Amino acid sequence: MTKKRLPYLLAASLMFTGGMTTTIAHAKTPYDGVWLFDDTPARPGVTMAEISSKGDKISGRITTLWYGPVEMQNARIENGKLLFEARNINDKANPTRQWSLSLAGGKVHLNGQIWFNEVLVSGERGSAKDAAQRAFKFSPMPQTGAPIELKIAATPPMGWSSWNKFAEHIDDKTIRAMADAMVEKGLKDAGYLYINIDDGWQGERDANGVLQPNEKFPDMKALTAYVHSKGLKIGIYSSQGPKTCAGYLGSYGHVEQDAKTFAEWGFDYLKYDLCSGEWFYDTAETVKASYYEMGKALQATGREFIYSLCQYGRFDVGSWGRAVGGQLWRTTGDITDDYETMAKIGFDKNGNPEYTGPHGFNDPDMLEVGNGGMTADEYRTHMSLWAMSAAPLMMGHDLRETSAETLDILTNKAVIAVDQDALGIQGKAVRKAGDVEIWRKPLADGRVAVALFNRGTKPASTQLSASDTGLASVTKAENLWKGKIAGKNGLGEYSLPAHGVEMLILSGR
Ligand code: GLA
Repeated sequence: MTKKRLPYLLAASLMFTGGMTTTIAHAKTPYDGVWLFDDTPARPGVTMAEISSKGDKISGRITTLWYGPVEMQNARIENGKLLFEARNINDKANPTRQWSLSLAGGKVHLNGQIWFNEVLVSGERGSAKDAAQRAFKFSPMPQTGAPIELKIAATPPMGWSSWNKFAEHIDDKTIRAMADAMVEKGLKDAGYLYINIDDGWQGERDANGVLQPNEKFPDMKALTAYVHSKGLKIGIYSSQGPKTCAGYLGSYGHVEQDAKTFAEWGFDYLKYDLCSGEWFYDTAETVKASYYEMGKALQATGREFIYSLCQYGRFDVGSWGRAVGGQLWRTTGDITDDYETMAKIGFDKNGNPEYTGPHGFNDPDMLEVGNGGMTADEYRTHMSLWAMSAAPLMMGHDLRETSAETLDILTNKAVIAVDQDALGIQGKAVRKAGDVEIWRKPLADGRVAVALFNRGTKPASTQLSASDTGLASVTKAENLWKGKIAGKNGLGEYSLPAHGVEMLILSGR
């Protein structure tokens, strides 16, 4: 870092001492120096550009709040503009993007993109002192050590998270209201335990670097105590990057300190979301190390935390999620409240079933049941898929507004029991025919859960045969959504509504 800044500082000091003026005059471009940007869009948050030149060689970088310094590549002057390329993320087809700086009216105008963020900002000249003040502070690259051995979360964690319904519009009062509703609606009795605050609670760091909540969360200790007083547990959220996905402060450079803060406040669960950390940790090894660093830090607090890894299923996360101390790891990008997205994740993208089992679960993201974007049949499909997959069940709606229908779906005891089965097997499709998929999940007591899904937009019918069930002979069948014993031992023909499901538990040999 310091080394890379040397050429500019050297050129500047030579100029100020008046020595070797011929070299300087020859070397400089109108862009050389420090440019400060104060009106940058929040993401990626460009704060300055530093440019130096020597002969034909121009080097420099822009500093961003999200990704730290972004080095200029192939910088050159063309038609009076300074053009360069810079590293891009999340777009394999465009690993670099084009940027330009132009001078007009005494200001410099910067234009470029990183991922989906367009940058178009104007800046003014600054000094080396400004540059020092705005310089990004790198943290040492974390290292992975011996696997963290934790035997918590024998079954998939259950609870509620603020993100799907409220996004950043959360506050102390709403979180307390969710805890109240969790109890009052009978959701706690059904097994939902965690009340998780997702992104949007963070404020600034104090003079000692301790992260403070924003004004919407006046007293975190009082909030956790309140949730605990209801017999519930409570979770919080951060990122290993400088910025969280919604642009709040992340834990970059403060990992141990933040783990301690979360423990002191009384939290029981941390969702750790890669977000801007993807710039710094972009290989299997570095991403893993960044999760390990927080896993170790949580462990060192002496408080028990469920540790939820959120990096959208990259780098075969299920193969190392446990070793970094995780009990659940996201397998995909974000769910949204529509059948297509939910079905794509639930049917086709929920990670390698081999990785799921007691104390560690593939996480296809939080539930959307009750948010209104799907029909009751579609929400039953959603709940059935998650239960058949032994997925964490994190509700994502406004618990105060749980309709009778939503409650039926979310508190179906037998469906939850399939999800929470002690074997922790992630069920999978055993047969696909047209739009119909038949899934099977063996249960700890020898019974078998079977789900018949219709992915089509029209009603469909299908035959369930003994061979689909893995049992030589079926002696009893319970229909979980209809709440009754199914005739013919559950075998035979089923009519399935569009996007609908039937779920069964079969006994036999
Ligand atoms: C990412 C995660 C979401 C949510 C948001 C918060 O998109 O995948 O689940 O936590 O960040 O900003």
